[in-house]
Amino acid sequence: MQIYQIHIPELHTGVKFKVVSTKEVEDFVQKHKRKSDENFKKEVLRYFIFNLKTDVASSLNMMSRAAAERAVEAMYAGCVMLNPGLDSDHWINMAYAGAPLNPIYDQDDDPFDEVRDFIKKTKQNIDKKNKEVVKSRKMTKHKFLGLANHLKSKVIGQDEAIEEVVSALTRAQADMHDENRPLGVFLFAGSSGVGKTHLASELHRYMFGGSSQMVRIDCGEFQHKHENQKLTGSPPGYVGHDEGGQLSNQVKNNPYTVVLLDEVEKAHQDIWNTFLRVFDEGVLTDSKGDLVSFRNTIIILTTNLGNDKIVNDMISTGAGFTQSVEFQRRTTTTPARATVKKKTEEAISKYFRPELLNRIDKTVIFNHLSREDCIRIAQIEMSVTADKLSRKGISLEYTDNVIDGLINLGIDTIRGARGISQVRRDSIETSLANMIVKSVVPKGTIFHIDYLDNEFSFNMTKPVKKKKVEEEG
Ligand SMILES: Nc1ncnc2c1ncn2[C@@H]1O[C@H](COP(=O)(O)OP(=O)(O)OP(=O)(O)O)[C@@H](O)[C@H]1O
Ligand SMILES: [Mg+2]
Repeated sequence: MQIYQIHIPELHTGVKFKVVSTKEVEDFVQKHKRKSDENFKKEVLRYFIFNLKTDVASSLNMMSRAAAERAVEAMYAGCVMLNPGLDSDHWINMAYAGAPLNPIYDQDDDPFDEVRDFIKKTKQNIDKKNKEVVKSRKMTKHKFLGLANHLKSKVIGQDEAIEEVVSALTRAQADMHDENRPLGVFLFAGSSGVGKTHLASELHRYMFGGSSQMVRIDCGEFQHKHENQKLTGSPPGYVGHDEGGQLSNQVKNNPYTVVLLDEVEKAHQDIWNTFLRVFDEGVLTDSKGDLVSFRNTIIILTTNLGNDKIVNDMISTGAGFTQSVEFQRRTTTTPARATVKKKTEEAISKYFRPELLNRIDKTVIFNHLSREDCIRIAQIEMSVTADKLSRKGISLEYTDNVIDGLINLGIDTIRGARGISQVRRDSIETSLANMIVKSVVPKGTIFHIDYLDNEFSFNMTKPVKKKKVEEEG
């Protein structure tokens, strides 16, 4: 057995690594291989780090949890590097996540050149593979150029927000962003029901497509310090350790995704610290000790900060939408964008720490929706119903009053446009479904919808049957 003292940047003390014969490494692996990854790692540290319980432990105790986790990773990597039979998979994981491997050595006369070479080659191979995967997942130039227009057709009245997001993502598309960070980190601010989540999910669908869903974390569920564990998984020995974390698991399984952190202001400070590392380094260590890469994700934080004040002002000045159509027709005023921007920015800079704001690529402030925007949204909603009917061979006709009705019942200052699709489903589609179920509705039928005296009314015209001309034949 030999002992090498090596400096690890995070630790304030030299770490003494044991280097043992291949046979001893094999025996160790045989003895401990049935353990979970986390327990195996612990055993490795216990056995191969000579001064773990003394100087290393006291140095770890003085460090933050994140720094201690990094030091433990580095020590484990050191054990495996010096005793290569321990865990060949680990190299692949470390290299894949781009974790710093080199600082482990600070000796000029490094006796383990071959080991270093091996790691370098493995890392190069994996980097190459990783790049190929990214390339194949990356959008074609043509598709990327269509991104802004596609988003504008789905998310109404938020053209400035969309332009800002797309222009920030252009750097990633051109490979000019920092590769060790997520593709983009955005803070979406604005009133409720104006399209923040909607834009995130449309962006996910267009960029990462397929059947995958974006990853959504409700920060309201992370208001206490201990809830950090729900993100990355419970520590070994605790209930739920095997299940892993809500955030880490989802991104591990689907590394190409939009990650939505909803109502981020509600999260506990410690949880922000976890996020900060992700924004900074693009990685997160989960409770099993795996490094999860966020470098192919787009992270979107949302907040309603500043919104209360704006909404209160709107209600007291009578701007924006209330429950009456007539009133809305008269007052199409939405608060000036400059006012919304100023109030929101003030609230954000008062509330969020500069460390967080500095790591955000772009703070995007969403507009309040104008009456024209609401009309477009209601029309899009009606086209959803029309599509469903046309698949059954039924056509749909509706008056402008129906759009008024949807807006009247579905829009309010506090919930924004959220209610429109609810009204369409509950008041329109349910009635149409009843008609389809209760009467004979042949192909070629036309449904007519109107909205009068605060109620939707429904009629249908069935196709005229061709009469047989009796004289013939
Ligand atoms: N700008 C918009 N364009 C099209 N549809 C919209 C728009 N804004 C809202 N909607 C409709 O309202 C629903 C709710 O909007 P969304 O979930 O994006 O709100 P939000 O801004 O995230 O609000 P909150 O802050 O309350 O989460 C959407 O699913 C969509 O149907
Ligand atoms: Mg939302």
